[in-house]
Formats: sequence, C-alpha cells, structure tokens
Amino acid sequence: MYATITTELSEGIFTITINRPDKLNALNKEVITELGAALDEVYSNAAIKSVLLTGAGEKAFVAGADISEFSSLDAQGGAGLARRGQQLVFDKIENCPKPVVAAVNGFALGGGCELAMSCHFRTANEAAKFGQPEVNLGLIPGYGGTQRLTQLIGKGKAMELMMTGDMIGAEEAKGLGLVNHVFPAGELLAATRKILGKIGAKAPVAISQVIACVNDAARCEEAGFEHEIKRFGECFETQDMLEGTAAFLEKRKPAFIGK
Ligand code: COA
Repeated sequence: MYATITTELSEGIFTITINRPDKLNALNKEVITELGAALDEVYSNAAIKSVLLTGAGEKAFVAGADISEFSSLDAQGGAGLARRGQQLVFDKIENCPKPVVAAVNGFALGGGCELAMSCHFRTANEAAKFGQPEVNLGLIPGYGGTQRLTQLIGKGKAMELMMTGDMIGAEEAKGLGLVNHVFPAGELLAATRKILGKIGAKAPVAISQVIACVNDAARCEEAGFEHEIKRFGECFETQDMLEGTAAFLEKRKPAFIGK
C-alpha cells in the first residue's frame, strides 16, 4: 500500500517502519507524504491503540532529511519543505491522542533525531547515534529540532550539539534524557512493544489527556495548570473513570473501553 514505509497492526500496536535502508531511511518528499497518510490512519482507525515508529535495516533509524532534495531550494522552498514536514508529520505525531514511541535502531541524525523527538518518548538500541549535524551543511534543524532538543535536554547541551554537529551514543543520550531505555539490538522492538502493551492496559482517554497536558508543559503553555484542571474534570465524565475506581474498590482488574 505504501512505497517507502511499511505498516503492521498487531494487538493494537501499529508499527510504522521507514523503509529506504539503502539511503539510511532518509526522509524524502514521498516518505513525508506517506508518513502523513499513515498518521491519518492512526487518528481515524479505532483499532490502533498506539504507534511504534522505527527504521528498516541494521544501520539507521533515519539519517536525516534527504540531502539530495536540498540543492534546488531557495528561502521560500526551504521554508516550505520545513513547514510541510512539520504539519504533515512532526506536529501530527506530537499531538497524537494515542501514544507514539520511537524505537531508534541506529543513526538518528538531523530530521531523524527530530522525528524521534516528535514522538512521546524514545527507546534505543546500543548502536543508536543521535545528532543534529545540519551546521555541517550550512543549515539548521528545520523539523522542530531547535525547539524540541532544547525542551528535552536543556539549553546548554542543545546549543553544543547543534553548534558542533557532534553525534552522541545511546548511553549518553539516555543520560541527557533524550532516550528513556537502551536495549540490546535484538530486543529493541519486543521491549518497546512491552512498554506499549503496559500503556495499552490503561484508560485511553486518560492517556490522551496526559499527552495533551505534558505537551502544554513542554511548550511552557501559560494556561497549562488551568488546562490540567479542565482535563482532570473531563476524565470524571468517562465510563473508564467509573470502571477504574470501581475496580480498585472491588479489588479486581479494570476493563477499560476507551470511553
Ligand atoms: N540524505 C540522502 N542520502 C543519505 C543521507 C541523507 N541524509 N544519509 C545517508 N544517505 C545515503 C548516502 O548518500 C549513501 O547513498 P549511496 O549508497 O547511494 O551513495 C547511503 O545513504 C549510505 O550512506 P553512507 O554515507 O555511505 O553510509 P556511512 O555508513 O558511510 O555513513 C552517516 C553514515 C549517517 C554518517 C552518513 O550517511 C551521513 O553523514 N549522512 C548524512 C547525515 C546528515 O547530515 N543528516 C542531516 C541532514 S539535514
């Protein structure tokens, strides 16, 4: 159905694999278009409970935007490329009401690091490498990297990584809070699915409210506390809240329905 990505739905987890391993899964126009379409599926298909995003092959998650598409662009073209990607993919991932986790299986550079950072959190294998090397090309990150890297690891370290273009390994990325868990390569997908399975057993509306509230905080949204109060209140209108509290009092496991 797609040419540059593959998708698979199993036990509510929708795995999206960027599939251009010969180009280290670089994000060209077609990948952005297809990722956008796959994310529309995520929003509209009730059978999809969460998303795992990864890259095909042994070497890379995504080694960046496709540099071969850059040379013909002027200021307007460059801004258009960044805007299109942010709107079609990166913002859609960040604001997705269902959990989206990046399983980083190798290089996550430039747009690849930005793609991982747009996800709600990240796991990685031991070989993963992260970096924003755009300055080596006379560029800056354009898929949200200046904002999200600063949110995730703080101003000083973000400045250094974006000014030097240096790559860091998985353990260092974990120390900085860029990655939550580092797993051996062969275990990355199964271990990440296990985390998504755990989240999948919780009340879906509450999970989507957590995503919205934490996104407010990351954006320094002034009304973040007020939004939390409102969203906390909204949870009381769900059947799952009645089920969750009743199950606790009756000492049984809750059976959530997502309403
Ligand atoms: N855009 C387009 N093509 C890319 C690419 C990108 N961002 N990253 C890798 N590729 C292509 C290479 O051109 C090469 O294609 P070819 O076999 O047709 O020549 C193929 O993927 C394999 O990459 P190669 O450079 O040979 O692998 P390597 O193991 O020697 O190096 C990297 C790996 C990741 C260090 C190197 O590919 C690299 O620096 N990539 C660019 C990273 C970058 O600057 N990203 C930010 C873009 S804004």
